[in-house]
Amino acid sequence: MPRSEPTMTLTTVLSLLWVLLEGVAGGHWGAWMPLHISAFEGTCVAMPCRFDFPEELRPATVHGLWYYNSPYPKNYPPVVFKSRTSIVHESFQGRTRLLGDLQAHNCSLLITRLSPELVGKYYFRADLGGYNQYTYSDHSNLEVVNKPTIMVPPVVVEGAEVELRCLVPDNCPEMRPVVTWQGHEELAEQAVQVRLEETDGNWTQVSGVRFLPSRRDHGRTLACRVAYTNTTFEFEDRTTLDVKYEPHIVEMTDSLEATEGTSVVLACAADANPVALLTWAQGAAVLAEEPGTRLELQLYNVTPTHDGIYTCVAENVHGRANRSLGLTVFYAPRLPVINASGVAVEGEPVTITCSTESNPEPILSLLKERRVLATAVYEQQLALDLPGVTHEDDGEYWCVAENQYGQQATAFNLTVEFAPLILPESRCTTGRDTVQCICAVKANPEAAVTFELPTRNVSLNESAREVAQTERAGYAITTILTLRGELDSQLYVLCAARNAHGARHRQLHFHHANSLMWAKVGPVGAVVAFAILIAIVCYISQTRKKKSVNESSSFVQTENPPVVYSGDLQPSLHKSESKEICSLESH
Ligand SMILES: *[C@@H]1O[C@H](CO)[C@@H](O)[C@H](O)[C@H]1NC(C)=O
Ligand SMILES: *[C@@H]1O[C@H](CO)[C@@H](O)[C@H](O)[C@H]1NC(C)=O
Ligand SMILES: *[C@@H]1O[C@H](CO)[C@@H](O)[C@H](O)[C@H]1NC(C)=O
Ligand SMILES: *[C@@H]1O[C@H](CO)[C@@H](O)[C@H](O)[C@H]1NC(C)=O
Ligand SMILES: *[C@@H]1O[C@H](CO)[C@@H](O)[C@H](O)[C@H]1NC(C)=O
Ligand SMILES: *[C@@H]1O[C@H](CO)[C@@H](O)[C@H](O)[C@H]1NC(C)=O
Ligand SMILES: *[C@@H]1O[C@H](CO)[C@@H](O)[C@H](O)[C@H]1NC(C)=O
Ligand SMILES: *[C@@H]1O[C@H](CO)[C@@H](O)[C@H](O)[C@H]1NC(C)=O
Repeated sequence: MPRSEPTMTLTTVLSLLWVLLEGVAGGHWGAWMPLHISAFEGTCVAMPCRFDFPEELRPATVHGLWYYNSPYPKNYPPVVFKSRTSIVHESFQGRTRLLGDLQAHNCSLLITRLSPELVGKYYFRADLGGYNQYTYSDHSNLEVVNKPTIMVPPVVVEGAEVELRCLVPDNCPEMRPVVTWQGHEELAEQAVQVRLEETDGNWTQVSGVRFLPSRRDHGRTLACRVAYTNTTFEFEDRTTLDVKYEPHIVEMTDSLEATEGTSVVLACAADANPVALLTWAQGAAVLAEEPGTRLELQLYNVTPTHDGIYTCVAENVHGRANRSLGLTVFYAPRLPVINASGVAVEGEPVTITCSTESNPEPILSLLKERRVLATAVYEQQLALDLPGVTHEDDGEYWCVAENQYGQQATAFNLTVEFAPLILPESRCTTGRDTVQCICAVKANPEAAVTFELPTRNVSLNESAREVAQTERAGYAITTILTLRGELDSQLYVLCAARNAHGARHRQLHFHHANSLMWAKVGPVGAVVAFAILIAIVCYISQTRKKKSVNESSSFVQTENPPVVYSGDLQPSLHKSESKEICSLESH
């Protein structure tokens, strides 16, 4: 208690004065009594008092009287007590009694049945006879109370032992207060201790309740009750505990999952005294901060960047608490990224890497012309190794990434450069008076095609009049050489193709135009021609019935397409078939 120190000093000084007065054995006019004294309404107060006067006066008898509120008789102060007579002010009638022996310089006064109107100053006046009357300026202030005083330490913090003290005036020798606490039974490690304290003649019964405060005690009401045995007097003071405590997080959203684009609300509530500062943070980034008991963090339109750990921190002067949750954001794969060199030379190794991001992890596939070349399940990256590319690896590749939230695909063109290939359809066809040579070459980059005629010692390229380039299909180019006029018997033609990656040449085979005719006229034409042929055969067979079959069949065999009349089964079928067909024909 801050007040106790100066009071203690005052006590020391007054005790010293008391000793001095006793020692000097009455050198001066002087008196000692408590400056302040307290008592409960209805009870009594014994005011200790001692006085002194110059010894040389040697009075025969010593009388005294007590005044209320004023030290001077001329002001007609109410007489509280008078030793010469029993005439006192009506307020004090039957209420006052001198406890001390005036001859022994003891002026202690008892006032009973205290009531609030008796509050005030009490002065003692010594009456030694004649003019030797003296009112001491030292006096007592009587305080009449109707409740004890509970003293609470300025701060009560959870976990730190405290003592609440109930101060009960105890200055009535006839009635001793009985002090009890109420509501303290549930306090942790509680213990009640009663002691008597005296300050400057003012006796106080101090009942202390020690305990270990906890947050559960916050708001708890404690009462200190004063009772007197065999009376109905009861006085009480109450206090409500204000226990300070560090924050505890009492509500927290569980870890949650969200789909990209949706909104989520994260909530955190803390119990603290004083109110905590609540903070929502993701890593080092503070997202929301507010003092209070509950704080919500609203995340609108979540993206993968929102994925992570969120921590709610509650802090006050007594401590801090935190709790974390995880937010998982699911999203469809991002557009896959393909990393590969776009151009490769045949034989070189090529790695096509496809990567994306998604949650959950995607299924990645690499496709070429709808054919799956590689697949990776629940991985964000897929690599396809082509140890040595060929012209067949050239083309468009697709990387497809998929999970339950969606699908994305990216195309990639791989260009393979390769040496010329002379395709099988390259050949020469002889017509009536022309030779047409076709050279189909596949190459990347485009090849320079030359027809070489070794028998004529010539080499003809596209700048030659006889050479024409026709169709292109992808990397294939068809070049046609047309020769007119008389043809040398040993003529042969070479097709040579060259590009940056190599050169090829091939001798072109000769085909006769008739053997190709069927292919050229097409199936309908073939049927028509076949029908005409049958008609001719019918005609011949009818006009030369008697002629040998061998002759006609040999004729047919040379002139007809080999498919129709080849094989040994033909002659047996021939007659019936030709008959039927002929009968139809003759119709
Ligand atoms: C004065 O008298 C009272 C009552 O008899 C006694 O209790 C007290 O001790 C006395 N004081 C002194 C200083 O002797
Ligand atoms: C006397 O004690 C009462 C409580 O018992 C207290 O309220 C009062 O302040 C005290 N007086 C002095 C002068 O200490
Ligand atoms: C209270 O009253 C009872 C009976 O009347 C008596 O025996 C007892 O001594 C009293 N107690 C006090 C403290 O006066
Ligand atoms: C949360 O509390 C733990 C100890 O309880 C502490 O180690 C950690 O640093 C705290 N985190 C934050 C973000 O305050
Ligand atoms: C692409 O691949 C090359 C070679 O493997 C590498 O250096 C580069 O970092 C890759 N780029 C990306 C975006 O992955
Ligand atoms: C790949 O090539 C094809 C044909 O040349 C073209 O249509 C397509 O757009 C190309 N794709 C890419 C991704 O370059
Ligand atoms: C073709 O050229 C060679 C030498 O390059 C020569 O020996 C030959 O006689 C020539 N032939 C013709 C038909 O010109
Ligand atoms: C075509 O041949 C002529 C002469 O033989 C030559 O001068 C020319 O460069 C050749 N052109 C190409 C594209 O090879």
